[in-house]
Amino acid sequence: MIIARTIEALQKAKEALDGSIGFVPTMGALHHGHLSLIQQARKENDYLIVSIFVNPTQFLEGEDLDAYPRREEADRKICEVAGVDILFMPTIDQMYERDELCIGAPAIRGYILEGEKRPGHFDGMLQVVMKLLNLSSATRAYFGKKDAQQLALITQMVKNYFMDVQIIPCEIVRDDKGLALSSRNVYLTEEEKQRALSLSRSLKRASKMVMAGELDVRTIKKEMMQVLSETDRVEYVAIVDRDFNALESVEIGNSIILVAALVGKPRLIDNIWI
Ligand code: PAJ
Repeated sequence: MIIARTIEALQKAKEALDGSIGFVPTMGALHHGHLSLIQQARKENDYLIVSIFVNPTQFLEGEDLDAYPRREEADRKICEVAGVDILFMPTIDQMYERDELCIGAPAIRGYILEGEKRPGHFDGMLQVVMKLLNLSSATRAYFGKKDAQQLALITQMVKNYFMDVQIIPCEIVRDDKGLALSSRNVYLTEEEKQRALSLSRSLKRASKMVMAGELDVRTIKKEMMQVLSETDRVEYVAIVDRDFNALESVEIGNSIILVAALVGKPRLIDNIWI
């Protein structure tokens, strides 16, 4: 595995690649969620590039940029064992100039739900993903459904800017109790972990209601809020179509049910695709 810490080193390492390239961008502190993307990309491509970059432009003032978990040594080993060809770990200086042009999230779908709670987050996320996709020359890039709105916006960016890369959505990985894996789960105490399970429980309840024929969004959301009373604060419960337009009635095969809530310090998100 080649470790590239500069753009130059990455370009040089890429020269040796002659075939399809799978790419998995991450912010590190790798867990089984990341690993499932890495493994899928490994299977479906001749070469595999993973990036680890805690991107400052997608963190808001007062968010956990400095405290974001960093585990370079462990991450490096995970990538090595997973058969990564190039691990790209750039510094901030390598990635950004002082006065850059910016990419903006779309005015509606970029500013609802996560975009409303974290204004500017998606601008910074799209900015770095555009850079990383261009740098990787990927044939296919892999993103988790866990960050459903992020995935939808990246798909839209690739479409709107005619970028030549295939975006592959990957299933959410959960622990054996149902908690969606996240680098931020390390902040949870045991007691909070128990209460955090109410996010996935609320989604399971919603999907059961849908399976039983209940499609009314207001009724489903009300029931979910009851389950979520164990959290410290619910930020939103939403039911949207796959393009993130709000729905009044669940459309089977085209809906995503999402939840964001605070449990202790961390802010947790989860969703289910119906
Ligand atoms: P990060 O949070 O490190 O996540 C990297 C990728 O792993 C994302 O595509 C995310 O959706 C996926 N992922 C995280 N937890 C997952 C889980 N439990 N199951 C399946 N996939 C999961 O998302 C980012 O980094 C950044 O915004 C990034 C795209 C790298 C841009 O900076």
